[in-house]
Amino acid sequence: MKDIRLIENLKNTIISLDKGEMPEVSDLVLLLENYREPEIFGFARDLGREKALENYGNNVFIRGLIEVSNYCTKNCFYCGIRCGNKEAQRYRLDFEDIMNCCESGYNAGFRTFVMQGGEDPVFNDDFVCRTVAAIKNKYPDCAVTLSLGERSYSSYKLLKEAGADRYLLRHETATKEHYEKLHPKSSSFENRMECLYYLKELGYQTGAGFMVGSPWQTMENLANDLIFLKGFQPHMVGIGPFLPHSQTPFRDFPKGSAELTLFILSLVRIMLPKVLLPATTALGTREEGGRERGILHGANVIMPNLSPVEVRKKYMLYDNKLSSGAEASEGLEILRKSLEKIGYEIPVSRGDCLK
Ligand code: 5AD
Ligand code: SF4
Repeated sequence: MKDIRLIENLKNTIISLDKGEMPEVSDLVLLLENYREPEIFGFARDLGREKALENYGNNVFIRGLIEVSNYCTKNCFYCGIRCGNKEAQRYRLDFEDIMNCCESGYNAGFRTFVMQGGEDPVFNDDFVCRTVAAIKNKYPDCAVTLSLGERSYSSYKLLKEAGADRYLLRHETATKEHYEKLHPKSSSFENRMECLYYLKELGYQTGAGFMVGSPWQTMENLANDLIFLKGFQPHMVGIGPFLPHSQTPFRDFPKGSAELTLFILSLVRIMLPKVLLPATTALGTREEGGRERGILHGANVIMPNLSPVEVRKKYMLYDNKLSSGAEASEGLEILRKSLEKIGYEIPVSRGDCLK
C-alpha cells in the first residue's frame, strides 16, 4: 500500500494538467514513475476519456492511411525501412495507385487521406503537389494529410498551396541527447524541431509525437515530451510503443509498455483536450484490443490501412506490424462493430481539430 499522501500528490499533478497548468518536471517524473498505481492509472483513464467525450462526443474519426513509398534516405536506428536495411523489399506507389486508394477509401466512407512514406526523393514537390491537387480536386470534401518527413520550408509551402491540410511529423523525443541516441549523426534534432515550427507557421494542422519505451528513454525524457507538447500546441499527437524490428540495430531492445502508452495518451488528452489523438497501429500490434483500450483512455482517431494489399507487408516499421483485419480499410465493418461494443461510432467526416 503506497503512502496516501503520494497518491494525493499524483492526483493533484493530473488535476493541474486538467486546469491547464504545467507541473514541474520533477512532479511529472514522479507521476510517470507511478503510472502502475491502479488508482492513478484509473484516474487518468477516466478523466482522459471524459475530456474526449466532452470535446468530440463518442466519435472516432478514421483516416485512410496510404503508405506511398518505403524508400527512405534516412537511417533511424529503430525503423525497419531505414536505408541501411538492405533486406527490405522496396516499393513506391505511382499517381494512379494513390488515386485508386483514394477512390476505394472514399467509397468506404473515409474523408481524410494520409499520404505517408519514407523520405523518398522521387516524391519531389512536383509529384506530391500534383497528387495532392488531384485528390483535392476530385474529393473537395476530404482532407489530405501528408507524412513525408523533413522537407524545406519552401517545399512545405508549395505542398500547402497545392491543397494539403495537415502534416504529421513526430518529434520522436524532445530531448536532444536522447534524439542523438536514436538517430545517426546525419539526422539533426534542431532540423526536426524547426520543421515542426515551419509546418505550424504555414497553417497546417500539425502533428507531433513520439514512441514510448524507445531505447534509453527515461521518465525525464517523457516528461520533456509532455512539456514540449504543451508549449507547441500541436493539433495531432501520434504516440505508440516502441517495437523492435529484427533487421535494425535496435533488434534486441524490449518492446515499449502498452500500459505506459495508455497512461500517456490519457495525460495528453487531459493536457490538450481538443487534440486529435490516434490509437495507433503500434498500440494495436503491442496487444490485442490495444486500439479499443486507447479510445477508452482518451484517443479519438484510428488510421486503417488503405494501401494496396500487395505492398502492405513491405511497410514494416517494426516486426509483426498489423495490416489486416480491423486494421485495414476492408475491415472497417469489424472495426465499427468493435467500437460499437464500447459505445463509439465512426462518422463520415473530415474530423478536423476543434481549435
Ligand atoms: N516501433 C514503433 N514505432 C516506430 N516508428 C518507426 N519505427 C518504429 C518502431 N520500431 C514510428 C516513428 C515514426 C513513425 C512513422 O513510426 O515514431 O515517426
Ligand atoms: Fe525513414 Fe521515417 Fe523510418 Fe526514419 S522513421 S528511417 S525517416 S521512414
